[in-house]
Amino acid sequence: MIRLRPAGAADVAAVTDFLAGLEPSAAWLRFGVGLGVPSRAFVHRLVSRGEDRGSWVADVDGGVVAHASWTRLPDGVSAELGIVVAEHWRRSGLGRLLGRAVGDEACAAGAERLRFEVLPANLPARSLVTHLWPTTEGRLVDGMVVYDVPLRRHAHVC
Ligand SMILES: CC(C)(COP(=O)(O)OP(=O)(O)OC[C@H]1O[C@@H](n2cnc3c(N)ncnc32)[C@H](O)[C@@H]1OP(=O)(O)O)[C@@H](O)C(=O)NCCC(=O)NCCS
Repeated sequence: MIRLRPAGAADVAAVTDFLAGLEPSAAWLRFGVGLGVPSRAFVHRLVSRGEDRGSWVADVDGGVVAHASWTRLPDGVSAELGIVVAEHWRRSGLGRLLGRAVGDEACAAGAERLRFEVLPANLPARSLVTHLWPTTEGRLVDGMVVYDVPLRRHAHVC
């Protein structure tokens, strides 16, 4: 059975396995670097929770098949989102559900806008953003498409 839930320190091993199993292009699109087997410190930070960050996983029988996170940016009011779904689980709604979950969590933590940065050629991610927040328009900044989503305009968030 598939379950969406907040991630935490107990998920370090399962999230490490998930990230290590991603195809290199997905790791690159999500993190901007090739990951290989990520370090424990990297994953520990990725799943840590606090006033400035949080993350969720989709798990199937204890194995992670998708992960999403939010991180407060230095301006204090924006939260950057990142999402990655295992290849064979894509187009089944996990990106959408996890995007909403982390967006809601960031909003509850006081974020006033969500930020999503994607490569221009990453059409699945760009489609996901416009699927979730239809009125949001991206702008090109330093070779990336940057979407800023003002939260109060979107009824499903907070
Ligand atoms: C982008 C990504 C997270 C989408 O996850 P997903 O679980 O497949 O997305 P969903 O199934 O929730 O799709 C929701 C909507 O997004 C859009 N979408 C998602 N993938 C798409 C694709 N390949 N082509 C066109 N539209 C797509 C569609 O509108 C879709 O709704 P629909 O299926 O009813 O048409 C996934 O492709 C991924 O992990 N990519 C690699 C990592 C990455 O690029 N992350 C984003 C940068 S942080």
